[in-house]
Order: sequence, then C-alpha cells, then structure tokens
Amino acid sequence: MKSDNDHEFGGQHTEIKLELVEKYLRTYSIALRQKFKSLWYIDAFAGTGSRTVRTKAKGGDLFDEPVPEKVENRRGSAQIALDIEPKFDRLIFMDQKPAHCVALEGLKAANPERDIHVLQGDANRIIQENINRVNWSSRRAIMFLDPYGMEVAWETLSNGW
Ligand SMILES: C[S@@+](CC[C@H](N)C(=O)[O-])C[C@H]1O[C@@H](n2cnc3c(N)ncnc32)[C@H](O)[C@@H]1O
Repeated sequence: MKSDNDHEFGGQHTEIKLELVEKYLRTYSIALRQKFKSLWYIDAFAGTGSRTVRTKAKGGDLFDEPVPEKVENRRGSAQIALDIEPKFDRLIFMDQKPAHCVALEGLKAANPERDIHVLQGDANRIIQENINRVNWSSRRAIMFLDPYGMEVAWETLSNGW
C-alpha cells in the first residue's frame, strides 16, 4: 500500500545516476577535505531522502513460480550525501513540496549531531537570493540539481557565480 512518505520516481537509470553521484561525492569530499575548512553539500531538489522501488508481481507459468509484488525502500540523494565519508560539514536540503520537507526534517532529527538545514520553497529563488551571501574563501560546496524535468532556471546556473 502507498503511504504519504513514499517517493516513487525514475527507473533503472535512476539507480545508475545515484551510484555515480555517490562515487563523485566521495571523491570530491576526499579531494577537497585537506584544502578547505568547510565542505557543504547542497541538494536543491532533495526529495525525501529515500526512494520507493516497486517491482510488479508476475504470474507463474509452466516454467516459473509466481512472484509477488516487491516494494523496497532505497536511499535517495540526501541520505547518500549524509553517508559520505569523510563527512560533509553542512548539508542543505531544499524542496518545494511540504510533505518532502517533513521527511527531510525527519532525516535531520535522526542525525542530531549533523549540521543539516531544510529549506522549503522554490530552489531557484533560494539559490539565487542566497548563494552570493556566503563567504566562499575557506568553504566549498557541491550542489546537486536533480529536478523531475525542466525546473532549473537558467539564472540559477548563470547568476554571478
Ligand atoms: C527527482 S526528485 C529528486 C530526487 C532526489 N534527488 C533523490 O535522489 O531522492 C525532484 C524533487 O524536486 C522537487 N521540486 C520540483 N520543483 C522544485 C522547485 N522549483 N524547487 C525545489 N524543489 C522542487 C520535487 O518536489 C521532488 O522532490
């Protein structure tokens, strides 16, 4: 049965994408750890921190037994970033959908020792209004932009970076 916290999206390509993101984040964190005082992870389209993967039931036949429907809960990008070693010093999760932010707040509550910020709203606006207010001289951030479609505004990528 589907619950409010379910976040079903993507397909097999999503699995590959998140695997590559995890490898990239780990390499980034190892490479920059020594050089900068503080490393941040910004997930602008963060989802819920998990991903529901549903495999349809299959009826049996002469050769194969029937297979019941399988529902798995796998890690989404926010949880993957939390698990990266060496650890990010600050994690910023943004999402427009209130229910997704409730789930992200749950992730924050489950990790009280981590510096996690959950921001609800349009990531384009939040990024454009705030990114240049940070003093980046001794900090670096990696930002993951993972919208469903074309939700990233050009100005979010181009504005004064
Ligand atoms: C593909 S999902 C992200 C999945 C996530 N990266 C993961 O691995 O679990 C896209 C997310 O972007 C959110 N979203 C869509 N438009 C947005 C916007 N303008 N600003 C912030 N979040 C937005 C949706 O609510 C959804 O949670």
